[in-house]
Amino acid sequence: MAEYYKVANVSEVPEGTKKIVEVDFVPVLLFNIKGEYFAMEDVCTHDGGPLGEGFLEGEEIECPRHGARFCVKTGKALCMPAVEDIECFPVKVEDDEILVSID
Ligand code: FES
Repeated sequence: MAEYYKVANVSEVPEGTKKIVEVDFVPVLLFNIKGEYFAMEDVCTHDGGPLGEGFLEGEEIECPRHGARFCVKTGKALCMPAVEDIECFPVKVEDDEILVSID
């Protein structure tokens, strides 16, 4: 069974925001999109850019390094220069805690 790690309280990730966390030494980016939480690896597939420092617009995050955009719900690469999708992780909420599994 997948192991879930507590990464934040819901109050730390208001709607329409993101938060950089770490799960077992893996940099993870957490999103709250209209009250639903999503998590993806915080590493751009183009050249390792820090996506967490990028601009979040709707359901898309833009890499601050060369402007590649990704869907935060699926990790899909939406434009050049990225061609590879980003790995997403399952998220669940228990009480007021957000948990992520990176298995
Ligand atoms: S490192 Fe993200 S677009 Fe190049």
